[in-house]
Amino acid sequence: MKVVLAYSGGLDTSAALGWLKQVRGATRVIAVLVNVGQEDDFPMLEERAYRLGADQVHIIDKRAAMAEQGIAPMLKLGAVYEQDYLLGTAIARPFIADALVEVALESGAGAICHGATGKGNDYLRFEQRVKILAPGLTIISPWREWACNGREEAQAMVAASGVSIPTKSFDYSIDANLWHTSYEGGTLEDLSQPPAPFFIDQMSQEGEAEVTLTWQKGLPTKLNGQALPLDQMITELNHLLAPTALGWLDLLETRTNGLKSRGIYHTPAGTLLYRARTALNQCWFAKPTLDYLNRMGSEYGRMLYQGLWQHPIQKAMQAAVDSLYAEAEGTICLRIKGAAVHILARQANPNLFADQLGGFGHMNQWNAGYSEALVFFQHLQNYSVPAEFAMQATPAVG
Ligand code: ARG
Repeated sequence: MKVVLAYSGGLDTSAALGWLKQVRGATRVIAVLVNVGQEDDFPMLEERAYRLGADQVHIIDKRAAMAEQGIAPMLKLGAVYEQDYLLGTAIARPFIADALVEVALESGAGAICHGATGKGNDYLRFEQRVKILAPGLTIISPWREWACNGREEAQAMVAASGVSIPTKSFDYSIDANLWHTSYEGGTLEDLSQPPAPFFIDQMSQEGEAEVTLTWQKGLPTKLNGQALPLDQMITELNHLLAPTALGWLDLLETRTNGLKSRGIYHTPAGTLLYRARTALNQCWFAKPTLDYLNRMGSEYGRMLYQGLWQHPIQKAMQAAVDSLYAEAEGTICLRIKGAAVHILARQANPNLFADQLGGFGHMNQWNAGYSEALVFFQHLQNYSVPAEFAMQATPAVG
């Protein structure tokens, strides 16, 4: 049995590697390490995979694909889950699954293995994608088969294969990519405890940054005047924002299975880009469009969270925003200090903000009758007809 393993170098996938070979009867294990922008030491992780028994290690770069096909529509739609989560893990999983399937089909492997527990959302995201792309592949989910009870026992399994993973990485389950870093588990599972000093320190940083973003067709194309593809723009923004506290979120979310989960997320570039988008949308769009974008953003976000990636409804929403943003362009200058974002200046085309009509001056440009008419129409919607228009009470019949 030849198995393709989604290998990140972390605890779960390292434990899975040894287990596939020693217990599960895999004859060949191909470890696939997908680069989705996590700043890991890939040569070191590759070497670790060989020591754990991998027969081949593939390192596949999905950064550009994830940015262009995953993050771009998410940003146009303003996709969020439960109002706040910017979906950093959810958006990376389908691209990791794509890489696994590509390698499995090329190498003639019969199975794909991932290290997600069956309690979170990641198994859904991996498995739904694999089933759509290659329904013939068997899916092996070690956490469903292992007798081990938790992370300590998984750590012991890795140690038994003679490989050491620095214990520091066991404090939390960390998932990092170019959009975010997420932390779960460890002391975060105790809601009565404050986040560890590491988090509080990062969340209280007072550093500053100033950026100018140029947007075309609803997406950022230039950072401080320099044209950059979206993945590089995000990486560059993350570096510029490193001294600030922008983008931290401490969230208690509802998983797809209904279980509540507490996680800390760090999404610096993403948070800034969402703010810039909101500020430009305010210029570009009228009320019905803004409201509809909000509804689509939460619907798209929920589907993405649940692993319904590229569902026909999602594709339809992507087509809708492509059409809405087809003519939208603008420039926005933002200053960040600590966790605060200040909008310094905006230019947008189209721009629905008309200072002559909306401002406090130029009263002669506004027909006073408009205001009276609007009061009248709003009043009608309160189901009360002004007295002069009310009909006399209907005389009793007979
Ligand atoms: N709860 C987040 C989600 O479902 C993150 C999951 C993975 N994070 C982790 N640190 N293991 O998208």
